[in-house]
Amino acid sequence: MTSDGNRIGVVGSGLMAVGIAEVVARSGMHAVLRARSDESASVARSQLEKGLARQVEKGKLEAVERDAIVSRVSTCTDLSALADCDIVIETVVEDLATKQQLFRELDAIVAASAILATNTSTLPVVEMARVTNRPDQVCGIHFFNPAQVLPLVEVVRPITASDDTIARAARFVSAIGKDGVHVLDRAGFIVNALLFPYLNNAIRMLEDGTASMEDIDTAMKGGCNFPMGPFALLDLVGLDTSLSILETLHASFADENFAPRPKLRELVAAGRLGRKTKAGFYVY
Ligand code: 3HC
Repeated sequence: MTSDGNRIGVVGSGLMAVGIAEVVARSGMHAVLRARSDESASVARSQLEKGLARQVEKGKLEAVERDAIVSRVSTCTDLSALADCDIVIETVVEDLATKQQLFRELDAIVAASAILATNTSTLPVVEMARVTNRPDQVCGIHFFNPAQVLPLVEVVRPITASDDTIARAARFVSAIGKDGVHVLDRAGFIVNALLFPYLNNAIRMLEDGTASMEDIDTAMKGGCNFPMGPFALLDLVGLDTSLSILETLHASFADENFAPRPKLRELVAAGRLGRKTKAGFYVY
């Protein structure tokens, strides 16, 4: 538990929202997941239950623990259900105007003492802070996919955030059993700023015909001990998400290593977005 209490709001109903809600509930806190419709709320809940059922089947989790975790996640469609949360983390679409509108609404609804956080990968956190009346209490709390498994969380500090907000966010990250790192509000933070030139250059290597996709993946797994190769990872992250991250990084740093490769654009245009559409670089 944190001194911030134990009620955490999660806005969104995608993979990241479900993963974050699970991590919060596993640590004994209560997660309130807000989806836009009853339908998406029930899909999110069934994703949560499916993931936990897999852990029970594998003998990694007791059924009674699963039930306790599920009971600590509530879903809602009305933002007002987040009013008494201590921290609210948004995981909605990576579109600044959408996020700013959400921050305005959250600012009006959620307790004045609460932290409003974003899970954005690349958008400037300060742009969300500045539309609220509590810019000192807005920061980034950035999880990695799959959030249930990966230990890292980046605590992102916009220029507007107070020391107290960053300290509270870091305490929360540690209370949910994650490893927090501190980073300033610059595009890509630490991980994506280093990861995406590598992923993009793997696509360039494939386009050049230097090696096959399978061999590039095998090389980076066997030669660097990475858990997955760049094409498997692009498919996991999602090709649309990867394209949008690269575009933001390229606009920020004007570095050719970030200029999205044509093959990536081509696959996104064809609707091959990775694992979520059952086809990306690979077919699933
Ligand atoms: N939900 C819950 N648990 C999951 C899971 C999921 N979606 N996916 C895998 N797991 C669990 C498995 O159950 C298993 O746990 P167990 O040993 O307790 O049973 C464990 O993770 C390992 O899974 P598997 O044995 O099935 O498969 P792998 O060993 O290949 O691991 C992986 C899968 C965890 C995805 C691993 O390949 C990995 O870590 N890959 C790298 C992922 C990565 O780099 N992510 C960062 C992407 S960048 C990002 O997120 C930033 C964003 O801003 C874009």
